[in-house]
Amino acid sequence: MEMTTTVLSYSGGLDTTASIAWIKEKLGHEVITVTVDVGQQEDFKEIEERAYAAGAKKHYFVDAKEEFAKEFISTAIMANAMYEGKYPLSTALARPLIAKKVVDVAKQIKADAIAHGSTGKGNDQVRFEITIKALMPGIQVYSPVRDWNMNREDELKYVLSKGIPIKVSKSEFSIDENLWGRSIESGRLEDPWNEPPEEAFAWTTSPGKAPDTPEYVTVEFDGGIPTSINGSKMSLVDMIRELNATAGKHGVGRVDHIEDRVVGIKSREVYECPAAVSLIEAHQDIEKLTLTKSILEFKKLVENQWTNLIYSGLWADPLREPLEAFLKETQKVVSGEVRLKLHKGIVMPVGRRSKRALYRHELSTYTKASTFDQRQAVGFITIWGMQPLVYREVNGFEPGYT
Ligand code: ARG
Repeated sequence: MEMTTTVLSYSGGLDTTASIAWIKEKLGHEVITVTVDVGQQEDFKEIEERAYAAGAKKHYFVDAKEEFAKEFISTAIMANAMYEGKYPLSTALARPLIAKKVVDVAKQIKADAIAHGSTGKGNDQVRFEITIKALMPGIQVYSPVRDWNMNREDELKYVLSKGIPIKVSKSEFSIDENLWGRSIESGRLEDPWNEPPEEAFAWTTSPGKAPDTPEYVTVEFDGGIPTSINGSKMSLVDMIRELNATAGKHGVGRVDHIEDRVVGIKSREVYECPAAVSLIEAHQDIEKLTLTKSILEFKKLVENQWTNLIYSGLWADPLREPLEAFLKETQKVVSGEVRLKLHKGIVMPVGRRSKRALYRHELSTYTKASTFDQRQAVGFITIWGMQPLVYREVNGFEPGYT
């Protein structure tokens, strides 16, 4: 008899390790594990060994860092994506890509089902399941932690009883990491009044302990995409790596806010995203130099829609492509350089220049070099203020329209 095969999206942590053994034992399926590298700092050899120790029939490793940067992060930069004004979407953005890579393996080996390690309270289950079902219609999806109501204590006992080697982190925090940022949840952070303790952070220096001397970083953009740092061209992956280190050293990129999850829960979320925060700050600045007010204003609506789609697991929504087409069209002229100043937790654009700049010194200067005929402003004001002034004349000049 042919065995039923389930492909599991495998991070190497306790939840997904317990899931391997459970799927085999409870469902009697063969388990194929897939670990996708989206820039998390992990020992992938060790993860593979653990997958086999837990009973995986075959393990796949997929390096998706370049694709993550080129296809996902670059769009997030164009969209200045900050969910609820604060969260650069780091975890959210990687989910559809991980789902896609797991589906690729499932198709290749003609699997019968796909499983992932999300809980039933978060956004990740929504992101994984909708994307998986969009890419592989009709496939059975399991979420063992959620569907069998697993908890960490039982999982640990179960995994240890099977003799599976697992390093149980002493940390009270639940961490998710990729190139675009590090998400920190649970433990003491569940009380939103508690300040995140220093040990919650791994990528950023405490701003108070950051260097006294500021550091300047010049980011060059070409068509909305960062192409070089301090004059040296490098891949987006390398640029993000470098900025995570440099901006992180100066304590830049810490985020602490209350977030609205898709499932309606409000949660306290802490992040450190030094590169994301710095690059979006720089990108917004170069856009202001090169785009008109009308595009900047309208683009905010598109940015917000795109960010909400990605956050809420609707990467598969057909609205995404037309939104991205608009974003790309606007970026054709978004080229130039921004000089960022990093200092004690703050990133600030302090200089910008571009061949495409709409800034004209001869128009804005107050010196006699000005070519702007200021006498024309008189006629402009007369016409510009006509409607409100007529309205006031008809309805009264005082507030309250007496
Ligand atoms: N709240 C963030 C999001 O929904 C981060 C989730 C972090 N996930 C995790 N498994 N720790 O994107």
